[in-house]
Amino acid sequence: MKEINIGQATALTSPDPLVLVCTQKEDGSLNMAPVSFFMYASFNPPMLVFGMGKAANSGENIRRTGKAVLATPGISLKDTVMAYGSATGSKTDKLKETPIALKTIAGSDIQIPEDSRVAFVVSLAQTVEAGDHYLYLCNIEKMVADDTKEALFTWDGYAKVAPAQEK
Ligand SMILES: Cc1cc2nc3c(=O)[nH]c(=O)nc-3n(C[C@H](O)[C@H](O)[C@H](O)COP(=O)(O)O)c2cc1C
Repeated sequence: MKEINIGQATALTSPDPLVLVCTQKEDGSLNMAPVSFFMYASFNPPMLVFGMGKAANSGENIRRTGKAVLATPGISLKDTVMAYGSATGSKTDKLKETPIALKTIAGSDIQIPEDSRVAFVVSLAQTVEAGDHYLYLCNIEKMVADDTKEALFTWDGYAKVAPAQEK
């Protein structure tokens, strides 16, 4: 085996999970950012953890409000995911620049994409510093799903999003 760096590792372990972190900005508007640093953290109680760069607006929002909804985006959102991943909610209103169909789910006032396979309504339990990222350890308050929708995953170290199984 040859030694590799972390960028090469992320490409070689892909496909990785993908969620759109949906949060409320300070002015009450909606922000969304794709995140692949996502994993389940506990069955009982149900918990998950996700990691974001320290400067991310999404992180600022969940630290301030204590809440978020994480939605696994459906395949129609391929280009939108890349657009939301290359702009920050601190500077732009991504939902206005790249509008998508939204829906409301019971148990949260944060809207999610209409084309979502699974959505996790979470509340922040703990923020852990991890190098250049913060890890957000969250309680899962509620989970909803539409298994007729096919989800996107990240490929090639976050350069590409596509279904996990090409059909
Ligand atoms: C496919 C994909 C996966 C990404 N995964 C992560 C991630 O796991 N953690 C992270 O901090 N940023 C990740 N990003 C980058 C963020 O989405 C990006 O920094 C975004 O601008 C943050 O937006 P915000 O400042 O509005 O929160 C990813 C981007 C893409 C396109």
